[in-house]
Amino acid sequence: MIYLDWNATAPPHEDVCTAVAQALATSWGNAASVHRVGQRARQHFDAARAELAALVGRHPRDVLFTSGGTEANNLALRSPFAGTRRGVLIVSAIEHPSVLEPARALEREGVRLHIVPPEPDGRIAVTRIAAALDGLAPADGPVLVSLQAVNHETGVLQPVHEVTALAHDRRALVHVDAVQAAGKLDPRLWDAADFVVVASHKLRGPKGIGALVTLSASDLQPLLRGGSQERGLRPGTQDAALAAGFRVACARASARPLVDAETEALRDRLEVELVRLGERHGARVHRNGTAKRLGSVANVSVCGWRGPELAAALDLEGVAISSGSACSAGSAEPSSVITAMLGRARAESAVRISLGQATTEGDVDFALAAFDRALARGGAERTSGSGDG
Ligand SMILES: Cc1ncc(COP(=O)(O)O)c(C=O)c1O
Repeated sequence: MIYLDWNATAPPHEDVCTAVAQALATSWGNAASVHRVGQRARQHFDAARAELAALVGRHPRDVLFTSGGTEANNLALRSPFAGTRRGVLIVSAIEHPSVLEPARALEREGVRLHIVPPEPDGRIAVTRIAAALDGLAPADGPVLVSLQAVNHETGVLQPVHEVTALAHDRRALVHVDAVQAAGKLDPRLWDAADFVVVASHKLRGPKGIGALVTLSASDLQPLLRGGSQERGLRPGTQDAALAAGFRVACARASARPLVDAETEALRDRLEVELVRLGERHGARVHRNGTAKRLGSVANVSVCGWRGPELAAALDLEGVAISSGSACSAGSAEPSSVITAMLGRARAESAVRISLGQATTEGDVDFALAAFDRALARGGAERTSGSGDG
């Protein structure tokens, strides 16, 4: 199977697997215990905290471990509004559901929600965020702007640096979902943001661990209660094996970014060849998003195909890609990101192909041959289908 769905989750690196297995066998103590068995487990958290802080350009004391990106996003969004039924939340329409769903829940609880639409190229315009901030007064309560660093479906880079400066000028807090960006982009992009979210499994680490990195942990309000772990902000017994794997994933990403010029060259070739293949089979292939993008993601719409059908056809050919949002895979709904950018019709035929560190020239050749066969078969089926009346 050729795996081209790295944005859904990245295959754990073998060094990560070794670290997790070793820590599971030797560091199974309760990290909150004072005895040495517990302290051995605790050391994995200290080391992971330091490594993650280095990766995202923050201090270890600012790192709060969570179960992953979803929990960290929920914690960041809810904290500024905890205990008040007012305030203003400004989010982009192309955020991950782990931002949009808690945002809608907050709206039902009394927070004013402002959803900023993307431009057709997939970028959020700074001017639209400025317009949403204009006219807000201290009496409106706390204000939080939430903008992802990189879009999960298109790879389009968002102007988080400019938006952070703008929001801080107006005394608003800023949350940056860096789940698809950490280890791939320069951390200075989000160095002034109040909340930054990272997920280990997108960095080739284990699932089940992520982090919320804050400028001031005292701003946080826990979602759970019942323990002193993570300074009481994220209670519950922690798994040192996950921390050990996360540490190795962060160290590897610090040493070598997860997306580099080689990855980008492969992605560019894949896109160009896909457009050519489409022409050969009478299908128009649109590239979705012309703004500055991360070099590992291609999002294309193939006219005449529904995204899930094409993803299933590719699966039969031995290639894993995704349609719609990875995290709502299995849902019949087309991608909300492509819908917001380009409308529902285009979204219905969209597929996302995401490459990673281990992707090779041979993988791209294999995927292109698989697309060729799938498009040829689809074309033939459509022709014979129309012949049958
Ligand atoms: C941009 C973005 N944010 C948040 C998440 C959720 O992270 P997790 O799967 O660790 O809960 C994802 C997962 O795909 C994502 O792509």
